[in-house]
Amino acid sequence: MKTVTLSTLQAHKRAGETFSCLTAYDASFAHAASHAGIDVLLVGDSLGMVLQGHNSTLPVTIDDICYHTRCTARGKGHSLLMVDLPFMSNATTERMLDDAAALMRAGAELVKVEGEAWMADGIREMTRRGVPVCAHLGLTPQTVYQLGGYKVQGREAAQAEQIINDAKTLVAAGASVILLECVPASLGKAVTEALEVPVIGIGAGPDTDGQILVMHDVLGVTHGRTPRFVKNFMADADSIQSAFQHYHEAVKTRTFPAPEHCF
Ligand code: KIV
Ligand code: NA
Repeated sequence: MKTVTLSTLQAHKRAGETFSCLTAYDASFAHAASHAGIDVLLVGDSLGMVLQGHNSTLPVTIDDICYHTRCTARGKGHSLLMVDLPFMSNATTERMLDDAAALMRAGAELVKVEGEAWMADGIREMTRRGVPVCAHLGLTPQTVYQLGGYKVQGREAAQAEQIINDAKTLVAAGASVILLECVPASLGKAVTEALEVPVIGIGAGPDTDGQILVMHDVLGVTHGRTPRFVKNFMADADSIQSAFQHYHEAVKTRTFPAPEHCF
């Protein structure tokens, strides 16, 4: 399979084609996902929940993420490797640049940061130095305690407008990709249409350029309550590899997400 780069994602957007993204935290699952055709692998700080058993992503450290990035990078195959900056990496620009450098040295090819328009300066500094950035907007799990829970964002017109403007500001600052989590499908569509850069959605409706899910949700091994936007692809598959393939094909053919997965 052809190596996926930022240019590949941009080309998909221009052609009106979707691309698939999935979290991965180690070499074996990265290898399986890449072989299934997944375009982008994310070493997400969701590892704090699905691997470490915490009830938020806040305890995850830069060392945790670097370890899983090195593991995942060895199995990533043709897929583009995106990696999360963990909670408080953005405490100062200097710390963010050091942490982004650590992620890139560990194998990251695209660094994802949570944050609104105020992150523009930090994103500018990273991109100037050769670190491509994906800006994560909407429901940002690192601020779950401030948001008062894992809730849909941008339901009101003013808040939706704010998210569109923040996305534009961060793209102007250098963000190469936007990721939108848990927003109404209409807002997912509006942000995707307003931007030249690829937009990845999770619980953001069927119209974003890419779709992402947490691997454990795709395999149906998440315990406790699963969000509405999740689909267990293992239910109709006879192997992990084929569950990943079904997810990839469902994204490519826009059969996932279906209306029941959207807000
Ligand atoms: O950490 C993660 O897995 C994420 C995705 C849910 C987008 O940020
Ligand atoms: Na994350």
